[in-house]
Amino acid sequence: MKAAVVTAYGEAPRYLDLPEPRAVGEHELVVEVLAAGLHPRVRMQAEGSHYTSSAEDLPLVPGIDGVGRGPDGRLWYFMSLGARAGSMAERTVIDTRRALMLPESTDPVTVAGTLNCAIASWLVLSRRIPFEKGHNVLILGATGGTGQMSVPVARHFGAGRVIAVGRDTGRLAALPGVDDIALLGDPESVARVGAEVDVVLDYVWGEPAVAAMTALVQNRPEPARPLTWVQLGEIAGAQASVPAGLLRSSGLQILGSGQGSLGTADMATEIPAVAAEIARGTFAMKTTAIALEHVEEAWNRPADSSSRIVLTAGS
Ligand SMILES: NC(=O)c1ccc[n+]([C@@H]2O[C@H](COP(=O)([O-])OP(=O)(O)OC[C@H]3O[C@@H](n4cnc5c(N)ncnc54)[C@H](OP(=O)(O)O)[C@@H]3O)[C@@H](O)[C@H]2O)c1
Repeated sequence: MKAAVVTAYGEAPRYLDLPEPRAVGEHELVVEVLAAGLHPRVRMQAEGSHYTSSAEDLPLVPGIDGVGRGPDGRLWYFMSLGARAGSMAERTVIDTRRALMLPESTDPVTVAGTLNCAIASWLVLSRRIPFEKGHNVLILGATGGTGQMSVPVARHFGAGRVIAVGRDTGRLAALPGVDDIALLGDPESVARVGAEVDVVLDYVWGEPAVAAMTALVQNRPEPARPLTWVQLGEIAGAQASVPAGLLRSSGLQILGSGQGSLGTADMATEIPAVAAEIARGTFAMKTTAIALEHVEEAWNRPADSSSRIVLTAGS
């Protein structure tokens, strides 16, 4: 079969021949992959820069999730089994305990493009922190796929005010369901709109996040009011120097959310509810479908955070 294959970290995957996958365990099954999202996490996997990356994973088939059709014709959303069974292949092995059967009417491309984006904030608000209805949420990196989906997810969980922070005022203003916006490069504006924020979903990290955090914390009318800063992404940098005084002088708490701080069981438990909301139309990422055979071209396209690339194969 054909698959996208990374043979050296940092190089775009190539469309190569690989042996057919085989199901071994009692919960395993080979599916024809229909759609697999090219998420930032998948790029990190192919660059070898994700914290789970290892040189022993090479050569690897990228892709952390996807939608496929089983031998009996049923549709599945699945989380991939690891580097050798990535979703960017004509066929792959899935474990049905890390998968969800989907209704036949499901659009595979929409689910493959949206679920990973929506589940990041969903897991935070449902499992990682004790989120309460009425809590105000600020999203750093709100124009990205995961940031955009955080707005309806926060609404779904009963957020009070939802504040979107990013680099582009026009795109921030166009986000539906947002109460206030601020520019990432203008920390004072972040502090102004975020005075009463309870939870920050941070997809940015690096210096811009620390600048926003400093301005926010130093301008809180009630410094001791709890402020839960959830570190999710590192699109502006993997390192951040947080001034010690910020933590001692305020109700600021920082924690992360991702693979490791949440278990596979947490994800598997929440996937059905997220998929149901996608089916209902509550969340839908704009997608750009590209055939798997054009994987190199898809990889080398200029970044466009308004639309998620989804590689498609089969029928
Ligand atoms: N922990 C988790 O559970 C989890 C789950 C999903 C994603 N993530 C992580 O979250 C991050 C964002 O993912 P995504 O799906 O939203 O990505 P995306 O769709 O590619 O969007 C990237 C976002 O980052 C912004 N950005 C890019 N470069 C930047 C820079 N130098 N400074 C500030 N902002 C910058 C973009 O702004 P523009 O729109 O202005 O270009 C956009 O908002 C990634 O690091 C990803 O790995 C984590």
